[in-house]
Amino acid sequence: MSSSAPSAAIPAEIPRHEDLVNERLVAWYFIASLVFLGTSMLAGLHMALQLVHWNPCPDAELLSPGRWRMVHTNAVAYGFLANAFLGMLHWTVPRLTLRPVASSALSYFIFGAWQFVVLSTAAGILIGPSLQDAPWVMELAAKYNISMSLGAQGIEWGETPVWIDPIAQVGLLLVAINFMVPISRARGPMYVTLWYFMAMFVWTFLVYAMGNFMSEYWVGGTSGGAVGGLFIHDLVGLFVTPLGWGMMYYFVPILLQKPIWSHGLSLVGFWGLAFFYPLNGIHHFLYTPIPMFLQYGAVIATIAVEFVVTTVIINFIGTVWGQGKSVYRSLPLRWFYTGMIFYFLTCLQCALQVTLTFQKLIHFTDWVVGHAHLVMFGVFSLWLFGVMTYLFPRLIGRDWWSPQLCEWHYWLSTAGVLVMAFDLTLAGIFQGYYWASLQMWDVSVDGSMPFWITRVFAGLAMLGGFVCFVWNLVMTYRTAPAKGAVAAV
Ligand code: HEM
Repeated sequence: MSSSAPSAAIPAEIPRHEDLVNERLVAWYFIASLVFLGTSMLAGLHMALQLVHWNPCPDAELLSPGRWRMVHTNAVAYGFLANAFLGMLHWTVPRLTLRPVASSALSYFIFGAWQFVVLSTAAGILIGPSLQDAPWVMELAAKYNISMSLGAQGIEWGETPVWIDPIAQVGLLLVAINFMVPISRARGPMYVTLWYFMAMFVWTFLVYAMGNFMSEYWVGGTSGGAVGGLFIHDLVGLFVTPLGWGMMYYFVPILLQKPIWSHGLSLVGFWGLAFFYPLNGIHHFLYTPIPMFLQYGAVIATIAVEFVVTTVIINFIGTVWGQGKSVYRSLPLRWFYTGMIFYFLTCLQCALQVTLTFQKLIHFTDWVVGHAHLVMFGVFSLWLFGVMTYLFPRLIGRDWWSPQLCEWHYWLSTAGVLVMAFDLTLAGIFQGYYWASLQMWDVSVDGSMPFWITRVFAGLAMLGGFVCFVWNLVMTYRTAPAKGAVAAV
């Protein structure tokens, strides 16, 4: 491990990398994540085609765009991001703590169980309602006196069918145990990456329970809406964000071969996130019957997050200061720093769009969809692509088959998401003005068409980049001559 990554006090005998990291499992997680990302992108494209009346199979119930929209978001969050982050955790935590995960068998079990959860969620969304009406299912339900919905739940991002929720909840607990054991055994001062990861294990468990049980069983009406808003935003802020930043604090110093600029500032970022982020959620429901003091609180907390984010970005700029060329030369670093620029932009956008003045115009418009793609793809997916670009050669033991295809992946993804975000942001402003001028709904739909057509092509570019990456990966695995293991630094 690079000495530039501060970690726990180093034991007398440093364990070998092979004894710490289960590389095969890391690779499996990454591959599973890519399968779900591909599925999700096709689903997104399907929905995008529907919106411009180019749906290739409009009469197939199973391919109904409404269902595939839910598959699109669920596959991206739980299939792609969660799997990729789990792979990254299996590499990072043992190397930072110098201790393996609690149990390798548990890691394999979690891997299998998680794929089951994601696939069952997709199946529930796609065929749940039809299955529920099947005579044999109705017969079984009547015989055992069970009444349970097999389809999606009506909670945004919590669509996971009810019977899967307890399994996912237990899975999250097992994940936390598997990684908290090595973290708790580590000695010495704790590096900020582990702060983020530890907090995430606790937060994600609680956030999942809040979104999938509280609003389903106990809290209704506007309170249910408030809890749902917290859930949506905390999934991004308390699950994806700490994993993303924790990952950056680990990989950037290693690639630059120097320590992070300021450890003090890194803790400001961590505690700022912990304090302000959980209060943001209600900003999804401004201008609703939720009490105004809660809405104002969410607006202020959201703007505060922008300041917190700025401290984090300054820290990473300070770290790379004087070595700017390495960001251009090293593709993983380029992925990371491009994602950081997008992160700053998306948080800036957020600080503006959260104000009530802005909300009047852009509420319910495509501005929000543009924002969602900028953060989920432009930031976290780009960071994960950087990590995969860096780690796959180490996991497979050979250099990339085609560095040019790696470049194509970068440029198509970056350009695609940039066009999509800009296009939808603009679409949102137009839609807002159409609606505010009280014209017929159709007028706004017609006016949105050029933007929606542009989105199809931006999506195709993103998909093209993804295909380049997967093709390169397959060829690297199959045909590249092994040059000996690429050093794990
Ligand atoms: C081929 C590329 C993609 C296309 C064409 C696409 C298209 C779409 C469409 C049409 C929607 C529904 C918008 C609506 O309901 O009006 C959507 C929603 C969404 N997509 Fe994608 N998408 C793509 C890739 C991705 C990726 C890679 C991610 C994340 C990594 C992502 C994240 C999201 C999110 C978070 C939403 C929900 C937005 C909201 O509810 O505000 N998309 N996408």
